[in-house]
Amino acid sequence: MTDFLALAQPGVQKLSPYVPGKPVDELARELDLDPAGIVKLASNENPLGPSPKALEAIRGELAELTRYPDGNGFALKSRLAARYAVQPQQVTLGNGSNDILELVARAYLAPGLNAVFSEHAFAVYPIATQAVGAQGKVVPAKDFGHDLEAMLAAIDANTRVVFIANPNNPTGTWFGPQALSDFLARVPQEVLVVLDEAYIEYAEGDELPDGLDYLAAHPNLLVSRTFSKAYGLAALRVGYGISSAQVADVLNRVRQPFNVNSLALAAACAALDDTDYLVRSRQLNDAGMAQLEAGCRALGLGWIPSRGNFIAIDFARDTAAINQALLREGVIVRPVAGYGMPTYLRVSIGLPEENARFLEALAKVLGA
Ligand SMILES: Cc1ncc(COP(=O)(O)O)c(C=O)c1O
Repeated sequence: MTDFLALAQPGVQKLSPYVPGKPVDELARELDLDPAGIVKLASNENPLGPSPKALEAIRGELAELTRYPDGNGFALKSRLAARYAVQPQQVTLGNGSNDILELVARAYLAPGLNAVFSEHAFAVYPIATQAVGAQGKVVPAKDFGHDLEAMLAAIDANTRVVFIANPNNPTGTWFGPQALSDFLARVPQEVLVVLDEAYIEYAEGDELPDGLDYLAAHPNLLVSRTFSKAYGLAALRVGYGISSAQVADVLNRVRQPFNVNSLALAAACAALDDTDYLVRSRQLNDAGMAQLEAGCRALGLGWIPSRGNFIAIDFARDTAAINQALLREGVIVRPVAGYGMPTYLRVSIGLPEENARFLEALAKVLGA
């Protein structure tokens, strides 16, 4: 029989598929649990439920489902451009910000070229890189965060892209404005810096830089963001990149013609205007983070300080058995052994009662 794995391009042969958080229904089926009693804190989703304004916008689009969406995403691009004081031609819309990362890889990477990213960085960077036959250069992390100096040193003549996440997932680590400007000042002009700000809305007003402030001075910068997290639209898959108009033009050449669906476009426009929802998302996250930190402290557990909507908890021992025991309690969190962190579990911030359920289950599992 033909070995179709051996026939795949070498980078793909070596890939491991992305492992998502376990769906509630899957756990319910596996352990014969009531789905209603299961708490999922495994995919950095927004626990608030979608913005009512986004839902209303979706309902308004339903009658048009027989038609293709606006392939150029005119309305959403215009709104993003107005919001962030850029030109619509600088905006690339994606099927989630994941799509933006893949468009960058497809447009700028190829066999013989490489992308630089950090140890413990988001799993899609190596997947997108290897999928197009390029090499991923993984730079050891410093205190679980990006070692930007070492990343600069790792850039060579074949480097075309650097992926950096601020804050990073799954560690929640971040770097400040000075570190970013020093980094951008020293990255070669021909290297595209993808600054992944999937969680930036949770950190606004904080000590993190706003990547968009650096675009004018750095034509080799692309900032990617998403509606999946603080805007609460993960299921719809909509994200965006903001870059120079030239980079956006290049990405547009490799984009699927209708990569963002009409419900997502309409909902994202509405969500962008729903500042009340965004404020509530942030407040809920801040309170939930404090709740989980207090719970960890009470259980004598360490954690990595996080500016995302999740926290990586340190158990100082392999967490596979703890994770299994939590699943039996109906609590789904995220093992991060695949990220080189076998003694950690990543827990997304939930509603206060969901966080409490997790902490109760954890105390029981640890025999505390
Ligand atoms: C750092 C980071 N970047 C990008 C994404 C992609 O999210 P989406 O494709 O839903 O926009 C995620 C999702 O978890 C993430 O953690």
